[in-house]
Amino acid sequence: MATLHRERIVSLRQDRDRLSALASLHQAEWGKISPFKTVAQHEEKLRFRISGPPPSETYVLLIKDELAGSVSLLQHDDIAGVRPDLSPWLASLLVVPKHRGRGYGRQLVAHCVEHAWQLGFSTLYLYTHTHPEFYIGLGWRVIEHRGVRGGNVTIMEHRYEPGKPKR
Ligand SMILES: CC(C)(COP(=O)(O)OP(=O)(O)OC[C@H]1O[C@@H](n2cnc3c(N)ncnc32)[C@H](O)[C@@H]1OP(=O)(O)O)[C@@H](O)C(=O)NCCC(=O)NCCS
Repeated sequence: MATLHRERIVSLRQDRDRLSALASLHQAEWGKISPFKTVAQHEEKLRFRISGPPPSETYVLLIKDELAGSVSLLQHDDIAGVRPDLSPWLASLLVVPKHRGRGYGRQLVAHCVEHAWQLGFSTLYLYTHTHPEFYIGLGWRVIEHRGVRGGNVTIMEHRYEPGKPKR
């Protein structure tokens, strides 16, 4: 895609040079709570995510060609043993601080939901430690609360209904 666009969302599979920088962003945001504790481990996680079969996919948000966020679609998320019956999962939603509050998080979620729909998945799942209200505002609903790794997570689902106005 041309770099003339001010902002764009591209697959990390097509833009692998961004992988190390994205791993650093993930480490800075989640290093303390994630099972992946170093940048190298986040790199390994991302390499795994972009080498797997569908629905596994990771998208990056580029603003003026600068890495500004990400979202992943995973067959299963990394919280071992939590609802292995559910699939696929939205994960690793991130917008860098200086670009928050401008609708990019919403765009990344919508991009992931539409990608899943194209693959035939009308329902997506996620877990969040901190942001259930953000996702409720985007049309997700809480299905369960769980204690995981000494903390509480909220498990949520989203049903995509084409034709229904997007929030
Ligand atoms: C959560 C995050 C992705 C939101 O990104 P963002 O680009 O700031 O979000 P948007 O601007 O698209 O916001 C969309 C809507 O959600 C609302 N919103 C944003 N952050 C929110 C929050 N923490 N709680 C509740 N609502 C929130 C916005 O007000 C907006 O509502 P509106 O359209 O009615 O005005 C971003 O804050 C982030 O990267 N946080 C750190 C990583 C993280 O916690 N990710 C989620 C892991 S589960």
